[in-house]
Amino acid sequence: MAEAQAQQRGGNTDDGSALTESGVRFEVDGEIATITLARPEKRNAQTFATWSGLARIGESLPEQVRVVVVKGEGPSFSAGIDLRMFTPEGVPGQGSFSSAAKSGGTTFEQRIRSFQAGFLWLRRPEIVSIAAVQGHAIGAGFQLALACDLRIVAEDVSFCMKEPALGLVPDLTGTKPLVELVGLAKAIDICLTARTVHADEAMRIGLAELVVAGGDLEQAVHDKVAELLSVNRDAAVATKRLLQGAQARTLEEQSVAEGIEQEARIKALFG
Ligand code: ACO
Repeated sequence: MAEAQAQQRGGNTDDGSALTESGVRFEVDGEIATITLARPEKRNAQTFATWSGLARIGESLPEQVRVVVVKGEGPSFSAGIDLRMFTPEGVPGQGSFSSAAKSGGTTFEQRIRSFQAGFLWLRRPEIVSIAAVQGHAIGAGFQLALACDLRIVAEDVSFCMKEPALGLVPDLTGTKPLVELVGLAKAIDICLTARTVHADEAMRIGLAELVVAGGDLEQAVHDKVAELLSVNRDAAVATKRLLQGAQARTLEEQSVAEGIEQEARIKALFG
């Protein structure tokens, strides 16, 4: 991406320094935004600051953005939560889970909701989000990949929902998309064993849209972005809205919803 074209970067957003401290880089190039977890030396382990950084990006995403790519620098997409957050000392400047549980004024549930905000916006109908996943996607890393609409993965990918092995539940919005993608039985199998899902299985069970050689990941994502941008923007938004609502509606209700969306499209196209 040409420097001049990048309209917004980790270093020059309103809260750019905070974003940089969160280990997250953010770039916008026209209709494409790229979020990069950028602590490869720690395998992109996620902290409270990572999640508030993601939430801030969601809040200030430029309107022209149609596709958001989420990726991780280095050998791993993300090794999950920064394990120092489970220690009494926590992450310097950020505290720990035990301090979060005791923080005055805000309930722990409210804190979790604020962490989840960093993930939830990736499903907005106005955008399509793509996780480009190589290496480890563990715990919070797996859930970040699940927060995206699509997952394009490298051959060396290994997904693992490690939370139950640590006495925790996955709480960063990953359980619903996992069940919707692979079904309840497979989700139970994956989560309650905390086993690793490799690329071939990920492809077979619907966790991944595409598996490519590691060196081809960037190009594969680039190609998918181009395909997504090739269709009419407003039709894409309306169609995603329809698809997202389909499971909760009856066939009859969904048919009505299709008609309503189409009427708006026809009016927009032909007056
Ligand atoms: N939290 C904090 N630091 C981490 C984490 C993490 N989750 N994962 C890796 N790191 C650090 C390591 O401590 C090491 O730091 P150091 O160089 O200062 O010693 C560095 O990243 C590199 O880690 P290695 O283990 O040397 O890298 P390797 O490629 O061999 O292994 C792997 C990667 C498999 C991801 C391993 O680091 C690991 O198992 N990490 C912990 C995964 C985990 O349990 N995550 C929590 C999941 S639950 C949840 O997210 C809610």
